[in-house]
Amino acid sequence: MPSTLTDNYNRIHNYMRISITDRCNLRCTYCMPEEGMTFLPNEQLMTDDEIVQIVRVAAKLGIRKIRLTGGEPLLRPNVVNLVQELSQVEGIEDLALTTNGLLLAKMAADLKKAGLKRVNISMDSLKPERFKQMTRGGNLERVLEAVERCTEVGLAPLKLNVVLMRGFNEDEWDDFIQYTIDHPITVRFIEYMPIGGRQQGWKRDFISLEERLKGSKWHDQAIPVDKPRHGGPAAYYRLPGAKGQFGLIHPVSDHFCDTCNRLRITADGYVKPCLYWSDEFHLRHHIGDDAKLAEVLIRSLEAKPLNHEMAYELSGQSLSHQPTTRTMSQIGG
Ligand code: GTP
Ligand code: 5AD
Ligand code: SF4
Repeated sequence: MPSTLTDNYNRIHNYMRISITDRCNLRCTYCMPEEGMTFLPNEQLMTDDEIVQIVRVAAKLGIRKIRLTGGEPLLRPNVVNLVQELSQVEGIEDLALTTNGLLLAKMAADLKKAGLKRVNISMDSLKPERFKQMTRGGNLERVLEAVERCTEVGLAPLKLNVVLMRGFNEDEWDDFIQYTIDHPITVRFIEYMPIGGRQQGWKRDFISLEERLKGSKWHDQAIPVDKPRHGGPAAYYRLPGAKGQFGLIHPVSDHFCDTCNRLRITADGYVKPCLYWSDEFHLRHHIGDDAKLAEVLIRSLEAKPLNHEMAYELSGQSLSHQPTTRTMSQIGG
């Protein structure tokens, strides 16, 4: 099947991220305001049938990889059924999920059986007290239990997402890299992104990963690793003899927009061609009409800019148009 999801800059889109709920059982400091969010009423969330229909249409247009996100996707009722239905859509080769891991240990085996291939788990600290602080209440032990269960049931390769923030977990960089020596797991450090309105304190807490790697004792030993097929945003490295690898996601210090292969669907059924900008197009209006759904997906790419302007916020330059006001928890990362 040919890919018709090519944008004005010749970027082929084969990766769709779908937020299946905006609800979350945590309020991570980099993602949600301390007071929490007002969640969408249930009737505004896409139904399972609607999500499956959108994926069927997207697969015909060339989407090969689906990632379910949230909020916290495992809070969605009957998520195992949804995974099973999506795993049967013709053309989908990779079906993955990004989660905070709190509910995962119990669900890992069922998700694997339903056809889920991989999970990425947010885990910003290896220290229980600090983890609790960064996530505003999370229990690290439950997440570590989920990591073990995923390895046992074969939800692999498993990736841990670490948003590196100054004054929070910056000092754990070496510990996380050390972790990849003994564990067959990928640790990805992520730059803190200014998404969802002007985030107070963002500049103060932001760390450039490019600089962090250069100043690291591992810098000279780190061997670059090729990206996996249908790869996401990370650049990967491995230490000699390590069982695992580590990756850097550095949208601010060195953006990877020229190779962007991603489209996002919000929990209320809009397609967002770029994480950063406000442009979005309602798909849900057109449920039941495959041709119209396909047209909206294709047309959304006409509005996809060449890149985001996150770094402008650091240098004080003014932005060329309107950034999104949705929070990360509403977009799904
Ligand atoms: P893999 O398929 O395993 O590579 O997953 P992924 O990295 O695509 O997904 P995940 O949900 O684990 O996302 C990790 C981080 O990358 C999150 O903070 C996302 O917001 C960020 N990310 C993913 N795609 C993009 C993108 O197109 N632009 C930017 N700026 N960040 C992105
Ligand atoms: N900057 C960078 N990454 C973020 N995530 C959530 N908010 C932000 C932010 N402001 C990450 C989480 C999760 C992924 C989907 O998005 O760590 O792993
Ligand atoms: Fe919830 Fe994920 Fe946002 Fe943390 S990053 S508050 S786990 S949606």
